[in-house]
Amino acid sequence: MNFKGRDFISIRDYTREEIEYIFKIAMKLEAMSKNNLNLLRGKILASLFFEPSTRTRLSFEAAMLRLGGSVIGFSEPKVASIAKGETLSDTIKVVENYADIIVLRHPLEGAARLAAEIAKIPIINAGSGALFHPTQALLDLYTIKREKGRIDGLTIALVGDLKYGRTVHSLAYALSYYDVNLLLVAPPILRMRKEIINDLVELGVKVKECSSLDEVIKVADVIYITRIQKERFPDISEYERVKGSYKLTLELLNECKPDLIILHPLPRVNELDTRIDDTPFAKYFKQTWYGLIIRMALLALILGAIA
Ligand code: CP
Repeated sequence: MNFKGRDFISIRDYTREEIEYIFKIAMKLEAMSKNNLNLLRGKILASLFFEPSTRTRLSFEAAMLRLGGSVIGFSEPKVASIAKGETLSDTIKVVENYADIIVLRHPLEGAARLAAEIAKIPIINAGSGALFHPTQALLDLYTIKREKGRIDGLTIALVGDLKYGRTVHSLAYALSYYDVNLLLVAPPILRMRKEIINDLVELGVKVKECSSLDEVIKVADVIYITRIQKERFPDISEYERVKGSYKLTLELLNECKPDLIILHPLPRVNELDTRIDDTPFAKYFKQTWYGLIIRMALLALILGAIA
């Protein structure tokens, strides 16, 4: 497998075999991650975040530091020269002189791809627009694999904002590499776009649209629930109409499979009952730990510290 120097913009940039190789490296790192690893000593990660983030930014930065590397960057555009009118392309041309790899989050769909076309160093997409969040998809798959022991054969329900949510879009495409039943649960105005569903069906995914959590609770092996993203609604009255329209409660879990796992990319607002946190079904905080490990594996592979 050769990852050295490669960009990671969309989950479909990597094959299933490559994804599983990343998992293999992640599993090795899981056992070692608390040790003082020096695999990336002397390497610099530039962390460029044009949108808010807690998990993605901090886990990438922690991953780099745990591997012995260093981190530069900004966590909001107003502290960089973008605030003075500098373009993304000029920013990339400058930062590539300072770093060995760039992790980029940006509100525009094509931003990471554009950065990759410009940069001479690898670009990792940390979320761009409503379609792409490939490292989240990778850590979601890894969480399922680690917690269920397999991905093939599972019934997976994606719940919530399936129209604007980039995590569910990336994960749905990632799941197309596997033999899964995909259940899509969303309020009518937040249903997954038809062209994405058609794509998934063409890729061989068994997809069924459902109107409520009640419909999936008895059959799901994995429930992946997401918040409604207020910030992505072009019309705020549309958000007001739909907010609070679904919630996974402790009571609903009376009917679930005993080995159901519940994932959430986080942050949550009120779609996921906090009383679930202490049940064995809740894996969303463990998911953030797997995110650190997956990002360590990815950095080590792309920067050529592990082949
Ligand atoms: N899951 C996720 O992308 O979280 P952040 O926005 O906090 O990075």
